[in-house]
Amino acid sequence: MKANHGTYFKLFSIVTIAALLTGIVYIEADKDNLKRQINKETSFWDIYSEEELKANDFLLYRVDCGNVLSHAKTGAFQSTCDQPYGPDEITKRKWGYEPKDYMVSVKDKYGTGLNTYKWEISEDAWYDNNLTGFYYNFEVPKGEYEITLGFYNPFSARPIYAQIEDNMLVDGEKILKYKLTECTAYTSVEDSELNLKVFNPQRGVDAMKNPILSYIEVRVVPKFGRELLLSYMESLKGALDNQGLYTPESYESFTKAYQDAEQVLIENNGSTKENIEFRKSYFALKTSFEALEEIKVYTSFNPAKPWTDTKGNLIQAHGGQVQKLTFKDKETGKSVTKWWWVGEDKSKGAHGGICAYSSDDLYNWQFEGVVMRNVNSREELDNDEYFKELYKGLSKEELDNVYTCLSASTAIIERPKLIYNEKTDKYIIWFHADGPTATSNSSYAAASAGVAISDTPYGPFKFIDRYRLNVCPDDQEDFHPESKGMARDMNLFVDDDKTAYIIYSSEENLTLYISKLNDEYTYLATPVNEAKYGEDFIRLFPGAQREAPAVFKKDKTYYLVSSGCTGWAPNQARYYKASSMLGEWTNEGDPCIGDAQKTTFDSQSTCVFKADNGTYVFMADRWNPEDLKNSRYIWLPVIFNDDGSIALEYTEEWTLK
Ligand code: DGJ
Repeated sequence: MKANHGTYFKLFSIVTIAALLTGIVYIEADKDNLKRQINKETSFWDIYSEEELKANDFLLYRVDCGNVLSHAKTGAFQSTCDQPYGPDEITKRKWGYEPKDYMVSVKDKYGTGLNTYKWEISEDAWYDNNLTGFYYNFEVPKGEYEITLGFYNPFSARPIYAQIEDNMLVDGEKILKYKLTECTAYTSVEDSELNLKVFNPQRGVDAMKNPILSYIEVRVVPKFGRELLLSYMESLKGALDNQGLYTPESYESFTKAYQDAEQVLIENNGSTKENIEFRKSYFALKTSFEALEEIKVYTSFNPAKPWTDTKGNLIQAHGGQVQKLTFKDKETGKSVTKWWWVGEDKSKGAHGGICAYSSDDLYNWQFEGVVMRNVNSREELDNDEYFKELYKGLSKEELDNVYTCLSASTAIIERPKLIYNEKTDKYIIWFHADGPTATSNSSYAAASAGVAISDTPYGPFKFIDRYRLNVCPDDQEDFHPESKGMARDMNLFVDDDKTAYIIYSSEENLTLYISKLNDEYTYLATPVNEAKYGEDFIRLFPGAQREAPAVFKKDKTYYLVSSGCTGWAPNQARYYKASSMLGEWTNEGDPCIGDAQKTTFDSQSTCVFKADNGTYVFMADRWNPEDLKNSRYIWLPVIFNDDGSIALEYTEEWTLK
């Protein structure tokens, strides 16, 4: 039965991460439930006191959608996580989903808590835009309710709709990949049943737009007085006073909600009667309080989970590289040895500079700044103190070139790798420097290798230039003769004799090259027109179309892990072996074990480094093209077999012990 009138709503949604779902409150199934029968005319307040409900967080149902096997603890009116519509075995309240052939319960291996299970639509189901969806009914007394819907989406972004008591209270909310989207709506129920339908009327023939549903919470909306808001604010003082415990973003929205609530109290001074403003503030505060995210201290690697730095911000070091460095501390000037991670800053999307992080244990990383900044405008390059100091003495033409290569609107700065040059006592970063050129607007037209230099690993790194590199010798088949010397995805390797090499995708990504660098590590060992094949550079498996090279050496063997070339989408890894950098490399195939999708566990290689305990750590990126800053890091231990082959196995959590 559905109520057609008297429904009001306030809809807001928050998008946050799965961590918010800790601390599920268990509410003892109300033993008096049976006595307190609901009939059409009963209102909530006839049978329950506000105090009684407040103690239970006003929660009547918390449905872990699709988790029909478990009997975990849930809301006051239920005794199972989920069930088909009907009387609850213990509370006798009638609730649950209307079973449909197309509903499939799926367990997400990356989800946690209520995000683990969800309903999906079966792949081969016939889909009706208006009818196909998830239908739930909940027996509730007459009253006002808060309904929270959780969507943990491991797929591409799609819109989601929810009809609650015949009103479209979630109206095309976009649920993004790898995100939990929560939508909260308010409705009144005039009869004794709350009806809910979650669907996507825009789905059409595109199965990538199928609706999903992870969880539902039904709370009774309490009668709000000034006292309730005040006492709630009082109870949150502890959190307010502990800024350092929370991630900056979550703490900021919490303090904003707190200040708004204070304002509401001032503006409604003297009002003792029920006040909708108090209620709104209460829920805004509650949402932001529940979304407070504690800064994590890590004791293990957790591939694919969000990884935050010591201040609680998501680490921005994509396409990166880790190594151990000894250098003079920025503050004390004393020599320190630290793990050093450089990588792409994707905080503003595809165009960013290069960030660095330091660590003592490889689990917890301190942000060391944007060590090579990109430039917002030509004016900024001329006037900003940082750039003025860094690029002083350069001619106008040289500055123009710096701007072209580092422009925050067009320059691509990817896969930075840092090496220290003992002879010059300089730190050198090479990176994939791309962007439009004088003759092409394509964002990957330049296809060059960029170089920047600094006296310290924490910068500032001064951009030197970007270059095309070695070309295919005349007596070999060039897979892209129309554009010579291209250099895109790249890596660096310094051998035991301190010779450095740049390893990169050339010939329109069809052929990997390995080229020797000069003694300063700032350019090729031999200029392109004099370079000798086999001595200064080699081509690896011409036409094989590989990128994302990650080179390392163990004992006397050199290994190179690579990916195929499919943009941001993951593909199958392949590795090569050799006994010298410019020697014969052999194709050893895919090192991944149990990688059913053949996508390198949904990631792309970027670096392999050796930890103190001897473990070689494979670093990869799980790109999130719709939200690059939220791309994940997949670090896995490299397994070495007795025959010299290597393997990678996915593990959700691991340590160096
Ligand atoms: C794959 C490369 O490995 C990444 O670094 C990036 O350039 C993407 N392609 C862009 O599509």
